[in-house]
Amino acid sequence: MIQVAIMGFGTVGSGVAEVIARHSGSIAEKVATPIRLKYILARHDYPDSPFRDLIVQDFSIIENDPEVEVVVETIGGVGAALDYTRRALKAGKNVVTSNKELVAEHGYELLQLARRNNLNYLFEASVGGGIPIIRPISQCLAANSLTEICGILNGTTNYILTRMIRAGLPFDLALREAQEKGYAERDPSADIEGRDACRKICILASLAFGRHIYPRQADTEGITHIALEDVRCAGEGGRKIKLLGRAMLRPDKKVCAYVAPHLVNQDSPLANVEDVFNGIMVKGDAIGEVMFYGPGAGKLPTASAVVADVMDAARHMQSKKYLTWGPGGDDAAVSSDTVETGWYIRGAFPEPKARRAFGEAHFLRREDAPAEETAFLTRPMTRPELLRRLGDLPAQSIIRVLN
Ligand code: HSE
Repeated sequence: MIQVAIMGFGTVGSGVAEVIARHSGSIAEKVATPIRLKYILARHDYPDSPFRDLIVQDFSIIENDPEVEVVVETIGGVGAALDYTRRALKAGKNVVTSNKELVAEHGYELLQLARRNNLNYLFEASVGGGIPIIRPISQCLAANSLTEICGILNGTTNYILTRMIRAGLPFDLALREAQEKGYAERDPSADIEGRDACRKICILASLAFGRHIYPRQADTEGITHIALEDVRCAGEGGRKIKLLGRAMLRPDKKVCAYVAPHLVNQDSPLANVEDVFNGIMVKGDAIGEVMFYGPGAGKLPTASAVVADVMDAARHMQSKKYLTWGPGGDDAAVSSDTVETGWYIRGAFPEPKARRAFGEAHFLRREDAPAEETAFLTRPMTRPELLRRLGDLPAQSIIRVLN
């Protein structure tokens, strides 16, 4: 029997407890040994919960119990979660997490610590919720040289943009709807300002390209400035606005990772990833392009990925299967200013001025646009070139276009 402790009893932690309880029979069959939930670390008692007898408030009970072999961390953040993860690994326990901030900020250190102690540190649920993506990148696509990852990595912002596009809701109302439906994080700023997607693209970039890429190395722009006018202009041009995380391996082996809204052609599979769904495209030299699609957030989809990792840890108690990447550093990544994309620009200036600044451009005209509004798409160029050409043209919106 493998005994498990869950740290954190919020949405994901309680989902993990439910899934382990609900599927105990089939889990035991698949792993060839029963998995028993022994403790749940929580700040409060939960007198009405069916798991109330498992609640403990002191981490050292878990840390010092030699029977606990797998610890699930769903606390979130990089405070107690980091401290307890280090201590659990030092105490000889495998750790499974859904905590993308912790993996993005401290993944290299924790993977090394796990390896030194001959343990697994697994984090399938940290990216894409229930979508298998960590294991496919590290195992199924291992024979490829991966060159690019590009995806919709945040369900909340994808929901907001979908509602802006489909229902014509302004950003604030669409955000409120996402909060009412429980999609947005407690503090939605990490979602809407792109930090959540940034952590996820950094994890994928580290895994795919082999060096730790830190969130501070990935330029990050959210969707708070996206206006309905932009959604409509994009629609006129046969495009949808999507928040994308991109990571590319350059020929000099440096990684460029960034998060920004993009106009995406309606024919692209990414344009058709809607609501809280995530879609992640991975490019490799042998495979070409593959896309992973599914529920990117939510209690049970995320719990499903966590429990699968628990099962994997349980199956590999003797023969460890390490996820790994190398150390990061300033030389590992370059700024998104090096990336050439097309650009969408909207502002109150006459069309000839745009032509003078950009030469050929593809002009867009939305219904009921004020006479002085000009919106257009440029040819691919870097941001510094864009800003140089723009000069003092008063642009209200500048958004990348996915080539
Ligand atoms: N807030 C995140 C999202 C949860 O909306 O995608 C899953 O990481």
